[in-house]
This record gives sequence, C-alpha cells and structure tokens, in this order.
Amino acid sequence: MTVTTSKPKAPRRLVALDGPRAGGAVWLVGAGPGDPDLLTVKACRVLSQAGVVVHDGLVSQAILDLAPETAKRISVAKRKSHHSYAQEDINRLLVALAREGHFVVRLKGGDSFMFGRGGEELEACRAAGVECEVVPGITAALAAGAAAGAPLTHRGAAQAVTFVTGHAAAGAEPDLDWTMLAKANQTVVIYMGLSKAAIIAERLIGAGRAADTPALIVENASLPGERRIVARLGELAAAAAGLDGPAMLMIGESMALARAEPARADDLGALLVEGAAS
Ligand SMILES: C[S@@+](CC[C@H](N)C(=O)[O-])C[C@H]1O[C@@H](n2cnc3c(N)ncnc32)[C@H](O)[C@@H]1O
Repeated sequence: MTVTTSKPKAPRRLVALDGPRAGGAVWLVGAGPGDPDLLTVKACRVLSQAGVVVHDGLVSQAILDLAPETAKRISVAKRKSHHSYAQEDINRLLVALAREGHFVVRLKGGDSFMFGRGGEELEACRAAGVECEVVPGITAALAAGAAAGAPLTHRGAAQAVTFVTGHAAAGAEPDLDWTMLAKANQTVVIYMGLSKAAIIAERLIGAGRAADTPALIVENASLPGERRIVARLGELAAAAAGLDGPAMLMIGESMALARAEPARADDLGALLVEGAAS
C-alpha cells in the first residue's frame, strides 16, 4: 500500500497502488448507517469482489471485514479537527487506482449521494473516462426515523420531508430557507446539525414554526451506542447538549410517534427466531 501520511492538519498526499493495468472501475457503494444488517445485498456482493476499498470514517469495521482479506483498505476519513484529505485528492486517487486496473469500491456511510460528495467522485471518474457504477445505501435519516418508529411522512401530519445540511463554516450559521422550513405539516431532517441545534431552533421558531413542534435526535443510528432523544423544537439545543456522535435532528409533527427507548438486541433476536419458526 502506498498511502502516505503526514502531521495532522497538513494535507496528506494519496498515491495509487501498483498493480494490474486493465479493466479497472470504481463502484460508489452506500454502506448504510452503520449496522452491517442494513447493507444492501448488492453492496455485499460488490464489496466481496473489491480489490481496493477506499472508505470514510463512518464505515464500521464489521462492514470493512466483508471485503476480501486480500483487498487493500485505504481510509480517507475526514475528521472535524483535522480535515485530512482534500476531496480533489480523493477524486484523483479513485481515478488513478481504476486506471491501474483495480476494482475499486468507494465505500461511504449512508448513501453516497446524500450529503456524501459522491456526485463529485462520479463526475471525476466520468471526466477521466473511468467506468463508475453506483450502489445506493440506506441514508442515516431513514434508519433513524425507522428505528424510532417515527415516519418522515405521515398522512395528515407530514405531507413533505426536506433533507438539509446544518453544516456551516466555524462561527457562521447554516444558510437555509427558514420560511420554507417553518411551514407546518412537514418534516425537516438535518444532517450535520448537532453543533448548530440552538441556532436552527431559534431560526425556525423565529420564522413561525411552533416551539412545541415534536423533535427527535438520533445519535449513532443503527449502531450499538444508538441514543434517541424525544423533545420539542424549543428544547432542541438542550436535547443536543452532550451528544457528539454522528446525529440526525428531525423536526415535525410526525416525530410525536417516536419511541425514545432503543429496541434491545434481544427483542430483535426473539422476533427473528419467531419469524423463522412460523
Ligand atoms: C457527511 S454526512 C454523510 C451522510 C451519509 N451520506 C448518509 O447518507 O447518511 C454525515 C452526517 O450524516 C449523519 N449520520 C451519518 N451516519 C449517522 C448515524 N449512524 N446516526 C446518525 N446520524 C448519522 C450525521 O448527521 C453526520 O454528521
């Protein structure tokens, strides 16, 4: 493997591997929210054929273990404190590996096209004439809502769902259409919004969304450390305090259906056993 590393914060240079030269391709594969059981069958099949796996930090070890032992694994994890790899370097790496003939699986948390920058990687491959296929994944919002029993759309309570990012530069606030998001009877799902929970709640309430609108925060959806907090919009900042894992903020009338207690693994085991017996 020829991935080079340097001090934190300095951009790290990614170098392709030596290897075969013909027939390479890139597969953008959504790894789902974390639980390996939530991978698609197709994702498993593609992963089992990988020659090289280029993965993000949100992809769990259990999922990486599904690639052949012989597959090279390259982490391009981006961390809040030190943004290790520029997107352009990752694009170049994928293209270089495929041109060397490798079967490259680009594995990303959730779905590659949902706030995953998969579109940029697809464009880079296309521009370079490299074959690129996409396998969808279960995005974190769907997993978070489903596990809590909180439908993102619900007849009479949520006629629309809007996915937005809460990401903003340090000190800045998310640049969102608050008037649109403040309309009732819709679910607003916020990725990367944990650290901006206070300003998000303030802006939504300021734009007219009721402070008692039900809200749900799910941290580490589908993972063993999953935590759910059922709250009201006016309490969003307090509910978010103390959480630091990947988390979804979900606001809307249908979040009133959310269950705070995660299902125990035993419950699931019992259901599966009952199902198998019947
Ligand atoms: C860069 S975005 C990637 C989203 C991913 N492509 C997807 O479809 O889920 C990262 C954000 O997704 C959310 N996220 C990802 N995995 C999560 C999980 N298991 N539980 C809760 N939120 C998650 C968090 O808001 C996190 O900050």
